[in-house]
Amino acid sequence: MTTETPNKLRSRAWFDNPANPDMTALYLERYLNYGISQEELQSGKPIIGIAQTGSDLSPCNRHHLELAKRVREGIRDAGGIVLEFPVHPIQETGKRPTASLDRNLAYLGLVELLYGYPLDGVVLTIGCDKTTPACLMAAATVNIPAIALSVGPMLNGWFRGERTGSGTIVWKAREMMAAGEIDYAGFIKLVASSAPSTGYCNTMGTATTMNSLAEALGMQLPGSAAIPAPYRDRQEMAWRTGKRIVDMVHEDLKPTDIMTRKAFENAIRVNSAIGGSTNAPIHLNAIARHLGVELTVDDWQTIGEDIPLLVNLQPAGEYLGEDYYHAGGVPAVVNQLMEQGLIHEDALTVNGKTIGENCKGAEIADANVIRTYDDPLKPRAGFRVLKGNLFSSAIMKLSVVSEEFRKRYLSNPDDPMAFEGNAVVFDGPEDYHHRIDDPSLKIDEHSVLFMRGAGPIGYPGAAEVVNMRAPDYLIKRGITSLACIGDGRQSGTSGSPSILNASPEAAAGGGLALLKTGDKVRIDLGKGTADMLISEEELAERRQALEAAGGFPYPDHQSPWQEIQRGLVGQMETGACLDMATAYQRIAQTKGLPRDNH
Ligand code: FES
Ligand code: MG
Repeated sequence: MTTETPNKLRSRAWFDNPANPDMTALYLERYLNYGISQEELQSGKPIIGIAQTGSDLSPCNRHHLELAKRVREGIRDAGGIVLEFPVHPIQETGKRPTASLDRNLAYLGLVELLYGYPLDGVVLTIGCDKTTPACLMAAATVNIPAIALSVGPMLNGWFRGERTGSGTIVWKAREMMAAGEIDYAGFIKLVASSAPSTGYCNTMGTATTMNSLAEALGMQLPGSAAIPAPYRDRQEMAWRTGKRIVDMVHEDLKPTDIMTRKAFENAIRVNSAIGGSTNAPIHLNAIARHLGVELTVDDWQTIGEDIPLLVNLQPAGEYLGEDYYHAGGVPAVVNQLMEQGLIHEDALTVNGKTIGENCKGAEIADANVIRTYDDPLKPRAGFRVLKGNLFSSAIMKLSVVSEEFRKRYLSNPDDPMAFEGNAVVFDGPEDYHHRIDDPSLKIDEHSVLFMRGAGPIGYPGAAEVVNMRAPDYLIKRGITSLACIGDGRQSGTSGSPSILNASPEAAAGGGLALLKTGDKVRIDLGKGTADMLISEEELAERRQALEAAGGFPYPDHQSPWQEIQRGLVGQMETGACLDMATAYQRIAQTKGLPRDNH
């Protein structure tokens, strides 16, 4: 459908406003000076932004610089005008102290760009972990027509005939080095083998998760998420995405039409079925809040916990991104869930059709990689939400709990879902790295390791530091994973059965701030509780002492943004948003246009 609706386009207020010829001339003149003609800018064609997240600082998304050429051709072919612009880079592995500090910064920047410039619609170039939520959050706040395009995963990594998955191999290789099986050079070589091409992590880490969920939410064209970055199909998808956004502008199809409560429920179920990252609840809850859609951390358990694991990708399984694509990607997973009545089929997507229309009959092409609902890898793959005097909420990914871990911690036949252990508390990763191999800590196979000071305020930015390897002396005895709990996050590429995203964090006065090494803790996965076994009086005394000391200490701000974010950020259970920003909703509709600039 390409009915022209030139007068409704917001870009007309810049480029074709007879009521204000001075300003029209000023706006036109500057956009003319790289070669777009007045005829084009005043043609009534939609002006489409390409929000470019790729750069030399962002290798995971860098291929978008190439793909954008095809996106441009698609936009042109459908009768649009292109204005490409940079988004603040967010590189998961490159940014210190953590890329997650920058999610809200990129969000803020993109909101200003989408709202303050002559854009009628936007292509969001998503990929590396936080680029996806940052872009979707901004599109939610501004609410102009928007479509996402994944950069796609890297090709599979290989080493001596075996698949090596990005991120996941680091944790494994580190254990091999600790056990003396490989040296430092071998360690680096093994890790590098996992990243053989352009694209994002080829494992089911946060990137593959968030890109899959962007499709499940309806914000990408069907089948787009899983296509590997270097494949020709990826180029074609870029072109199709460019073409489609122009029609979306004519149809006035906006993020609020697509990302509804039903769409989020679909995404939660898909997240379980793919074995998605523990970062997904933080990011999806954040996107939902910016839309004004009700979504809580408890919804993840209620809606997603019982869904079986269908996708056999590392870290929970064996395969990698190329295999996921060849097996059918997101549509095949959605179709499996749909056959069980677990998908709201009427949820609208960016192509103007429902997810039911898009995915019905999508077949599994390789049942080793995507299993059928009746023959899953694991019966329940969602998150368990835990609460208690340690925190008001934290989550655990049940699908990565190994048999060995179960035997060691969950060995009481009368109480098979609970364990008690002595806490070993680390204040930040430096403290952990410094002391983990120290025998005087007496860490054994039943210890519970705690990481605190790692949340949105404490770190700052909620770092992925909760998954802690066991001490070398235990690894040499074959004990690789200990129970880990913390107020930080964990890489989606880690297979560690940690309890994480604890809110409120120690730095915000959460119970973790009161814990001491040697305290006994009790975790009941059945009841969903996590408590320090300490008397109320003792806890009250510790709380008083903490307050007298001025609260839980954290390092000084090192940059202006660290200070600003610390002052405004919420906790992970509500998405770690800049809370004040969630009051701004659909600003393209509710706030009118910004004032003229001269
Ligand atoms: Fe960027 Fe994994 S580090 S996608
Ligand atoms: Mg990460």
